[in-house]
Amino acid sequence: MMNLRTRLLLVNSLAMAFLIGALVISYWHMLLNKQQTWLLTMITLGAAILSSVAFSWLTLPITRSIRTLAQYSAQVADRIFDAPLGQVGGAAEIRDLASSLYQMSERLQESFTALEAVERTRRELVANISHDLRTPMASIQSYVEALQDGVVERPEETKRYLQTIHNETRRLSALVDDLFDLSKLEAGQNIMKVQPHRIDQVLADVFDTHRLLLSEKQIEIVANVQDDLPVLWISIEKIHRVCSNLLDNAITHTTPGTAIEITVTRLNHSIVEVSIADHGEGVETMHRQRIFERLYRTDPSRARATGGAGLGLAIAKRLVELHGGDIGVRDRDDRSSGAVFWFTLPINAVS
Ligand SMILES: Nc1ncnc2c1ncn2[C@@H]1O[C@H](COP(=O)(O)OP(=O)(O)OP(=O)(O)O)[C@@H](O)[C@H]1O
Ligand SMILES: [Mg+2]
Repeated sequence: MMNLRTRLLLVNSLAMAFLIGALVISYWHMLLNKQQTWLLTMITLGAAILSSVAFSWLTLPITRSIRTLAQYSAQVADRIFDAPLGQVGGAAEIRDLASSLYQMSERLQESFTALEAVERTRRELVANISHDLRTPMASIQSYVEALQDGVVERPEETKRYLQTIHNETRRLSALVDDLFDLSKLEAGQNIMKVQPHRIDQVLADVFDTHRLLLSEKQIEIVANVQDDLPVLWISIEKIHRVCSNLLDNAITHTTPGTAIEITVTRLNHSIVEVSIADHGEGVETMHRQRIFERLYRTDPSRARATGGAGLGLAIAKRLVELHGGDIGVRDRDDRSSGAVFWFTLPINAVS
């Protein structure tokens, strides 16, 4: 393939040859005398030389820029996104092309980084899930084998083994349910049925379902609900789940014998905030963002010992966001040790 400059020069030479040919034919047919022919031929040749020089001079920066752009795109194709683009000039169109190419490479880099991050978390997720599934399964297996081998003889011991198997199975199935819910939520396959409901009513129900757990750990609930709260448009079942996940955590982390404070306030004309404050170890600033990611635990060994998979907060966050609210954690107002998990719900956002 001929390059751009050679082509232009060839076209130029052909045009000149055509002109000279025309002059020669005119001379033959005696339309021009010898002197005129000579003069016009000289002028044509002069013009030919001038235009060839002009073509070369004009096309040189263009071909150089095109070569630079070609090298640059080859580097982008090799995923070298931060290579310098080099000097590009010649024509406004070429500079436009260069700037779009540069933007394209920046966007490509962004998507690549995002894709790599997604891939990394997927891998972590699979590893963590496998671990969380394997632990209870291994324990079930060893208990079943012990029962089969007849090493357990005393009936109360058999009962204890069966109880453990039962607990582990329940834990497994709760984990699988949570994973299933979360994947449905993340895939956006969740059509919410919202209805007007009182948030303090939901909290009272959640409290009821946790009554036994609370009394086992001698934990008191101190509720502080603002009167004149508006009725909110919520999915009762989903907000129940959010509160329940937060209360579960508070019960797990708070020191036995202390109180968990539940506060509901109207922050302004459009937002209601629910907060659950405990007297546990609190959440360090560096973990505050990440605990809402699925399977993230501040202390994996301890959390595994208590049976947590690290899904509760991720589910709560998705559900609150579905309602158009926000969720987070902060220090206790009185500066004592403990965490305050809060979430907001918009007033009349969905109607
Ligand atoms: N009230 C709290 N005080 C201190 N740390 C907390 C509290 N609630 C949650 N965390 C930290 O955040 C992590 C994530 O919580 P999350 O509810 O998502 O998972 P989990 O309780 O470990 O497991 P799951 O809820 O799936 O059974 C916990 O492992 C814990 O480290
Ligand atoms: Mg939890």
